[in-house]
Amino acid sequence: MSNAGIDRISFYTPRYCLDLKLLAEAREVEWEKYSIGIGQDVMGLPPPDEDVVTMAASAAKPILDAVGAEDIELLLFATESGVDQSKSAGMFFHGLLGLPSRCRVVEMKQACYAGTLALRLAALMVADSPGKKALVLCSDIARYDLGSPGEPTQGCGAIAMLVSADPSILVLDDECGVHAEDVMDFWRPNYRDEALVDGKYSTRIYQACLREAWSQYAALSGRTVSDFAHFCYHIPFTNMALKAHDRLLKGAGVTEGRRELVEQAVGQSLGYNRLTGNTYTASLYEGLTCLLDTSAEPLDGKRLGLFSYGSGAVGEFFSGTVVPGYRRSLFGDAHRSLLDTRTALTVAEYEDIFNLCLPSDGWDYSFSQYRTGPFRLSGVKEHKRLYEVAAL
Ligand code: CAA
Repeated sequence: MSNAGIDRISFYTPRYCLDLKLLAEAREVEWEKYSIGIGQDVMGLPPPDEDVVTMAASAAKPILDAVGAEDIELLLFATESGVDQSKSAGMFFHGLLGLPSRCRVVEMKQACYAGTLALRLAALMVADSPGKKALVLCSDIARYDLGSPGEPTQGCGAIAMLVSADPSILVLDDECGVHAEDVMDFWRPNYRDEALVDGKYSTRIYQACLREAWSQYAALSGRTVSDFAHFCYHIPFTNMALKAHDRLLKGAGVTEGRRELVEQAVGQSLGYNRLTGNTYTASLYEGLTCLLDTSAEPLDGKRLGLFSYGSGAVGEFFSGTVVPGYRRSLFGDAHRSLLDTRTALTVAEYEDIFNLCLPSDGWDYSFSQYRTGPFRLSGVKEHKRLYEVAAL
């Protein structure tokens, strides 16, 4: 048994967004379908000079500024929006942030799930190498076809987690429940920038994976739903998390007051995702960050349940206990200010940015400077992506 877990957690989302009221108007859909039916208010949008590497770098910078990078010996970059078929997004990150040369680096993919396996592997590594640390990055841009049912759930963002043997924020429990099943509920062929999805089917598979993963976890740990102060879910849209928890409680035999119980257990984790949209690999951990940052009730010593889901499909239910004094290690003010100071776009501006894909003709390009975080993609030269520190 180890005490390994999350020592620091930091979130980043780009500085542009679209109010979904405007999208509802443009698509001639009732605004309540987005705000109530799927539970989203605003969609985060990346400018053309940001990608998963710059978002992850911007998420990780506050952590590295606070604790340094010297002890990091493992960097796991989870994404389903990779920038190269061969070179890991983590290697671009390694160069941009100046990580130690004694550091294993790899990119991991299984839709929105990969960050969870990365976290588990990182915890095993640090438990085995006292004093050493691992950095887990989850960074994604959710894109669906314009006008498709998935469009209002788009979003973007990154989470960076420092993992250590003696963490300041969350100690992971050993038990977990896992369910994997080869299905086509959501996927993105190599020749497409936008995901394809069998929407309703994907929500059923999500629920099925949760049911299986939870029952395995409950049998292994002997815990019941009342052993948890809060639950955090993978959040493709916030209503999915609420429905998932409702189904979990129903399966556990809770027949009365479920609406209030669901709100109490899950509600506090949804605020950031309502404003960024789906961040795929980052979304579960964005929810966890939101809960830790915004919970008025102290969470010290409380057990949290977490459900990670990646289409295709893998689901994992796991848990952890919040470390007393955790609040001293959070970056809540920075997260709030990031979300409060974004530039709101019109639908026409959003569609322009959406359609400005990275050229694939092999010519050299340099990109205009938009409002970015501390890092940007400055261009492409001789087929190589060029990153730089942004002039802010
Ligand atoms: N007021 C209030 N509610 C309204 C409304 C109104 N005026 N109009 C519609 N609604 C409600 C509907 O009743 C429905 O609620 P229920 O789900 O409770 O029945 C909800 O709004 C959505 O309406 P529709 O079912 O008509 O929506 P849709 O078919 O247009 O799209 C979706 C819904 C299929 C989830 C779509 O958003 C989608 O394809 N999203 C992408 C896929 C996705 O996120 N899947 C989730 C599981 S897979 C996963 O988790 C991995 C991942 O990250 C992608």
